[in-house]
Amino acid sequence: MTAESVRFEQVTKRFGAVTAVNNLTLHIQPGEFMVLVGPSGCGKTTALRMLAGLEDPTAGEIYIGERCVNDVSPRDRDIAMVFQNYALYPHMRVYDNIAFGLRLRELKGALWQLTHLGEARAIKQRIDARVRQVAQMLEIENLLHRLPKELSGGQRQRVALARAIVRQPKVFLMDEPLSNLDAKLRDQTRAELKKLQERLGVTTIYVTHDQKEAMTLGTRIAVMKDGVLQQVGTPEAVYFRPANTFVATFVGAPPMNLLQARVVEHDGKPALRLGGNTIAVLEAQARALTQWVGKPVLMGVRPQDIYTDRTAPPDAILSEPIHAVVDVVEPHGDRNDVHLLIDGATAIAQLSARVKVSEGEPLPIRLHLEYLHLFNPETGDAIGG
Ligand SMILES: Nc1ncnc2c1ncn2[C@@H]1O[C@H](COP(=O)(O)OP(=O)(O)OP(=O)(O)O)[C@@H](O)[C@H]1O
Ligand SMILES: [Mg+2]
Repeated sequence: MTAESVRFEQVTKRFGAVTAVNNLTLHIQPGEFMVLVGPSGCGKTTALRMLAGLEDPTAGEIYIGERCVNDVSPRDRDIAMVFQNYALYPHMRVYDNIAFGLRLRELKGALWQLTHLGEARAIKQRIDARVRQVAQMLEIENLLHRLPKELSGGQRQRVALARAIVRQPKVFLMDEPLSNLDAKLRDQTRAELKKLQERLGVTTIYVTHDQKEAMTLGTRIAVMKDGVLQQVGTPEAVYFRPANTFVATFVGAPPMNLLQARVVEHDGKPALRLGGNTIAVLEAQARALTQWVGKPVLMGVRPQDIYTDRTAPPDAILSEPIHAVVDVVEPHGDRNDVHLLIDGATAIAQLSARVKVSEGEPLPIRLHLEYLHLFNPETGDAIGG
């Protein structure tokens, strides 16, 4: 299969007063698994529907490969979609559900062949081989004779995927295709989907509001908010170098802590003042903060990057101890989410459950300086990129 690139060029979609997608420019490489992620209502489905041709953009162009598809009808875009509510034909067996689209296409392309019995048989055999190959890939060969109502949710999901895959489209669009599955089946199907996409190499655009799903599936992920693209990058880039406070707190769980700090001069260099604590920062951070001395900034630190003297890994570059008091301990099996009070501010630290801490206890903490994030408190944008 040949993979195609997909490009949104300054695409906007308005519904009356609502701007669902606002000046979206996004380039997706051939064969890439791109995940669009963001909270409910941020414009993910609208972006997909425009690519599929189900909505017309108010402005901008959409390209599949080198072809601008703004004026191309949905059926001629060579796209297959799997939606949250994948409707299978209830009266058709699994086999026919999968074969249906292929038959339509083959017959439409070659109506005259119906008069040639030999040709008709060849088409039938071709479709049969294809259906069985895809069914084998998705491990539903033994279900081909069943009706949809005789399947579990996960099996139905795989039939819906099979129906999309069998058509060998240039682009797959998936809109929360796993949201009907229970947690375990979802994890399993997600892993299968990832393997399958790698194997097929078809450009895939996948929509979810679940940041964890986005991180595990995407070659790159595009984070949206209120119709506006916030950041595009690999899962690592988005996690370790969030462009702003929205991305910083949307990706990762529990969310990154954002603490009000002030930039002060300390030993002739910019440092951070957090309540009564002074935090000397790394060289590059100090450089980025030169213009900020005397001003407030937001200091971002992930719950996983807060340590106590007992949990600190030997190779971590840690801050001096910061005075904190344990407010609430939330157990999660192997780890605790420890809610801390730091001079009136609150933060969550994720600590191994093997380290016993009790509520009300003073707990000096250390921050992993390499993973300290700094943001402009007015715009929310990252300071120093
Ligand atoms: N046909 C429509 N008419 C009017 N407004 C619409 C229409 N479709 C979507 N919207 C609005 O556009 C915005 C984006 O909707 P969209 O469905 O793209 O969001 P989403 O990111 O897919 O959200 P969710 O995660 O809830 O599915 C929302 O404010 C929504 O109410
Ligand atoms: Mg949606």
